[in-house]
Amino acid sequence: MRLIDQTVLPHRLSHLHVQDVDALVDAIQRLVVRGAPALGVAGAFGVAIAMLQAEREGWDDATRDAAIDRIRNARPTAVNLAAGVDRVRPLVPKGLDVVVAEARELLEEDLRGNRAIGRHGADWILARTPDRPLRVLTHCNAGALATAGWGTALGVVRELYARGRIELVYADETRPLLQGSRLTAWELRQEGIPCLVQADGAAPGTILRGLVDAAVVGADRIAANGDTANKVGTVSVALACAEAGIPFVVAAPWSTVDLDTASGADIPIEERAPEEILAWNGVRAAPDGARAFNPAFDVTPARLISALVTETGVLEISAGATPDRAFPR
Ligand code: MRU
Repeated sequence: MRLIDQTVLPHRLSHLHVQDVDALVDAIQRLVVRGAPALGVAGAFGVAIAMLQAEREGWDDATRDAAIDRIRNARPTAVNLAAGVDRVRPLVPKGLDVVVAEARELLEEDLRGNRAIGRHGADWILARTPDRPLRVLTHCNAGALATAGWGTALGVVRELYARGRIELVYADETRPLLQGSRLTAWELRQEGIPCLVQADGAAPGTILRGLVDAAVVGADRIAANGDTANKVGTVSVALACAEAGIPFVVAAPWSTVDLDTASGADIPIEERAPEEILAWNGVRAAPDGARAFNPAFDVTPARLISALVTETGVLEISAGATPDRAFPR
């Protein structure tokens, strides 16, 4: 598997070649590959990596299955990772070619889905915002890097830009690993889309000052009731949008909706190493002995989410169109 190494962007565009399960789990945990849909695709191809390694190293089925579980559980919050693994896993007995073909199908579906999300999201936002180029805020990176290509939240931004309806994008820098400044700003610059990077703490104030027309973010897991986990800091954006009365839009493929998770309280929230908070670029940024709390995600309550845009259309979540009501089981 050849992965863009997202840890070294924007300084270098380089690739990591992954040939075994240890290397893939490490790449997922270090955020070489990250973003819920991209994790799903990496998980699906990861099953093929495990099969190849099993053949090379003479593993029995139990060892191979345990290796597949390690990939599946490498990060807990984005449901797409487990879903990607679970989608191809039943095909293992049919052989490598069948597994790879299904993983490729997942990748193609994600690409197609992203385009549709972009169109639905742009239509929905344009019908509810002033008739002029818009100022849109996004948090973290939900772009081409976080998906099979194109992007979810940034797919909406790209579509708005293609329609001549973007004035400016505020990209929250996204502490502590800077997905917004390193990755979102990089992607937007490639496209020539005007962008300002701001500190995460600036976002609510920017919104309350009336400088933003709509916020669009991605998601890592959407519970049945519409509560949504996304990168830590997202809920501050949603609260400010509700206060300002502007749309807060979640853009995500349907594969990020987890009907088995009833509400946000049931979503597992990854807690990452304290060093990500206590040091900056290898330099200690807190006194010796200081401890850290480092949740990688937060949960935005459904009532704050104006719309969930998926490849199949738009659910107006805060108005009661939650996934469990729209698609009862
Ligand atoms: O920790 P990360 O960088 O994997 O977190 C990513 C996010 O929170 C994204 O917003 C989310 O996965 C959606 S990506 C289309």
